[in-house]
Amino acid sequence: MANINVKIGGLDLQNPVMTASGTFGYGLEYANLMDIRRLGGIIVKGTTLTPREGNDYPRMAETASGMLNCVGLQNKGADYFCKHIYPELDAFFHFEKRDIEPQPAIIVNVSGSSPEDYAACASRIDTLPGIPAIELNISCPNVHDGGMAFGTNAKAAASVVSSVRAAYHKTLIVKLSPNVTDITEIARAAEAEGADAVSLINTLMGTSIDIERRRFRLSIGTGGLSGPSVKPVALRMVYQTARAVNIPVIGLGGICCTEDAIEFLMAGAQAIQIGTANFVDPKVSEKIADGINDWLDAHHIADISDIVGSVE
Ligand SMILES: Cc1cc2nc3c(=O)[nH]c(=O)nc-3n(C[C@H](O)[C@H](O)[C@H](O)COP(=O)(O)O)c2cc1C
Repeated sequence: MANINVKIGGLDLQNPVMTASGTFGYGLEYANLMDIRRLGGIIVKGTTLTPREGNDYPRMAETASGMLNCVGLQNKGADYFCKHIYPELDAFFHFEKRDIEPQPAIIVNVSGSSPEDYAACASRIDTLPGIPAIELNISCPNVHDGGMAFGTNAKAAASVVSSVRAAYHKTLIVKLSPNVTDITEIARAAEAEGADAVSLINTLMGTSIDIERRRFRLSIGTGGLSGPSVKPVALRMVYQTARAVNIPVIGLGGICCTEDAIEFLMAGAQAIQIGTANFVDPKVSEKIADGINDWLDAHHIADISDIVGSVE
């Protein structure tokens, strides 16, 4: 068996496979479908300081090799998460046994509409001993206030990351938007303000039109594209970013199988996330974690770090 443990900031992951925010609920919804204890990490649904209704329906449209969504960060807010969801997660995983029982890192995806708002949400999550990291979503294309606006401008990104860094004391992952000319500029800004890692990519902004009704298929006109169609773009951005920063890169975007995951690792990602593929096969993340192990064994590679960034 190869060593597939990875370290991301203060996180010690049992394997490099995490589930992407917004595609795996709070993890517990999948507990009857697969062994969620075997995941490297679970990035829970986007959480904001105060509750959000999300956008009107329709919020999803299928595309060739992927999907568009404009859910718009529907969630019940940070206090609800702390009071209701966190205890359920604790009852399932027994966070106090983290050092003796294998379990995924539970990571909260944090969003907001101003640096202060992001920081206030992050500091609520900071109080939860079982949550070792947050993923800062500065890349949501489906909300009017904030979201992607912070992730498409290096100065704005720096200001959010610096506010959150001051308020949050554990591992800080910053999730980057692909809807930019040069993603490495934003990654470097996040690194300079104290991010422990960056994850990329969030969805690519797109749209779709129902020609018989002459109407957009999504309620707000545009949405975020995800799934296999975005993989080549994501892979290119992961490769560029891994060469531009010294902090770990977490790669995602269209990963559906072991071979996709290995491509991201070779491009320079130290860990990966699975998003839209969960909707097709709820067990896909577990299969990919096993698949990476098998692939390394078949190629006589003893440690996963030997393939990270190994593309020539
Ligand atoms: C329905 C849906 C909801 C999402 N919600 C969030 C979210 O709340 N926060 C976030 O950072 N990303 C969110 N994402 C983006 C995914 O986490 C991921 O970055 C993106 O889908 C690309 O990966 P994939 O192609 O493997 O799905 C969402 C994606 C989908 C499809």
